[in-house]
Parts: sequence; structure tokens; C-alpha cells
Amino acid sequence: MDDRENSLQTARRIVSQRLESLQRAGVEQIGRAAFVPLPVAESMVGTAHPTTAVAEADALAGHTTLTPALSQGEREYMPPPLPESLTSTSTMPRSPARPVAPASDLPLSLTQPYPKGLANSVAGRQQLLDDMNTEVRGCTLCKELACTRTQTVFGVGHAKPRVVFFGEAPGADEDRQGEPFVGRAGQLLTKIIEACGWARSDVYIMNVLKCRPPDNRNPLPNETDNCRQYFVRQFEILRPEYIVCVGTIPAQALLETDVSVGKLRGKFHRYRDSTVLVTYHPSYLLRNPSAKKYVWDDMQMLLKEMGLPVPGK
Ligand code: URA
Repeated sequence: MDDRENSLQTARRIVSQRLESLQRAGVEQIGRAAFVPLPVAESMVGTAHPTTAVAEADALAGHTTLTPALSQGEREYMPPPLPESLTSTSTMPRSPARPVAPASDLPLSLTQPYPKGLANSVAGRQQLLDDMNTEVRGCTLCKELACTRTQTVFGVGHAKPRVVFFGEAPGADEDRQGEPFVGRAGQLLTKIIEACGWARSDVYIMNVLKCRPPDNRNPLPNETDNCRQYFVRQFEILRPEYIVCVGTIPAQALLETDVSVGKLRGKFHRYRDSTVLVTYHPSYLLRNPSAKKYVWDDMQMLLKEMGLPVPGK
């Protein structure tokens, strides 16, 4: 069987498993998503209000199709227990007709389950992350970045997270401090995380590149290729239920696409056993504050999907 046929077969299997699991959950019909625009979190936007959210919601509702998503029961690993702060007692119903990316013959690299058998305890995973961090510190695959960086910036947060925030590359502040998202954009990302009811330590935060590109230029394709092995392995250790790609670079690198963030957001995608949400990068929001309402729409969609309450609602 060739690769294409193989991946078609995998996609068919996943779709049919997904349909069966929806059926088991009592879903009899897959309809168009009924999107109700919700107000934007004050902490994110001050007094701004989502005046165009209705049009946005209508546009999104038109994209409702089944994605080749795996449900919890189909996963080949035990889903990690939730950190206290991410555990909800809410009985908020999930919308079975959520907007999702169109099912297509996805590359195998996006549909392969995470490997079984890696450490599952927080301490065990942290050890694996620490060992990998040591390896990354010595990386010289990108000659320019290895010469210009102050230090590598690996990732930070809970080793057994429900959600991973996935960014582009360290900037000057991150390069200095050795931690992702600590500069101005990072402070806005922290606000977004907190608006969801979490602390930075509840989630995991990491980037595509582990080194700062000089003058904050975009990562070059070969730099993303060199770092791919690291973020792939990080996700295999973390095995998050959800990945939030902030910006074009992480979204396109993870989903192996050249589709824009504007088109990728507003629906869920799949990366192995993780459900992926794409939204705008906080740096973009610093330049275009009016886009904050879209990010808050995206985060509310995520919270609903996770079965968690929207703070302040
Ligand atoms: N932008 C990113 O994408 N990552 C960081 O760590 C900081 C800014």
C-alpha cells in the first residue's frame, strides 16, 4: 500500500471511530454550529466590544464538517489527570456540532498517535523534558542562531498539561531570561491565559524555535526544520489534550500547511492525539488591538470544548 492510500485508510478509520463515538455519546445528527457571540473579557480588551463578532460567527458556522478527530475513548494512551486548577465541576454541555477543519487526507505525521510507554507521572515527564533541554542547550544545527543566541529557550510550565501554548521563537527578553513569552507579547499571552481562569504554571508554554532569530526576523524554513525534532518530541512527552498555536509560524509548522491564521482560526484541527486551536499572535494584537476580540472568541470556543466555564459569564 502506498503512503497516500495508507493515510486515506487511517483518515477513514479515524472518521468512522469519531462518528461511532459521537453516536455512543448520543449524537444523532451533525448540524451546523449555532454560534452565539459572547462578550470579550474585560481584562483582555478594556472597553472594546466585539461589534463584528456576529458576522465572524456566521462565517464560522458555515464551516461545520467532521474533522478526523479522535475522541478520548479512542486514544491509545491514558489521558493525563487534570491539574486542580484546570479541573472543572461544570456540567456545561459540549456542542457536538463544533466548527472543525474539513476532513481531508492528512499526512501521517498529523494522524499518528503519540507513542505509548513514555513516562506518565509529572516527575517522570519533567525528567524527560530536563534531559531534552540539556540536549537542546548544546544544539548547533543552525550555525547562525547558535552563534547569536545568549541561551536556548526550551519551554516552561506544567509537565502534564491539558493545554500547551505554542509560539514562534524567543525574542530579546526571552533570550536574556531563558523563558518563553516574558516580554511585552508574553505579558499579553499571560493575560489571555489568566482570562481563561488559569495560571502560567497550569499550562505549558513553548516555541517552534528554541533560539532567538537575530533582529527578531521570522524563522527561516531550514531553522524550523532543524527544530522540528525538538517540538515533536516535546509534544510526545507532554501529550496535551489541546494545543493553542499563537500565530502563523507555529500553526503552519505544526499543521504542515501554508494556510493563513485568518483561515485556520475559528475551527479545531488535529495534531496526533491533540485538538489544535489556532489564533493570532499576541505581538499582532499589540499592533492591532481590535483583533483581541477574535482571540477571546477563540479562547471561549476552547473553554467550551474543554467543558470549562467561561470566567465572568
Ligand atoms: N514571541 C514568541 O512567539 N515566543 C516568545 O517566546 C516570545 C515572543
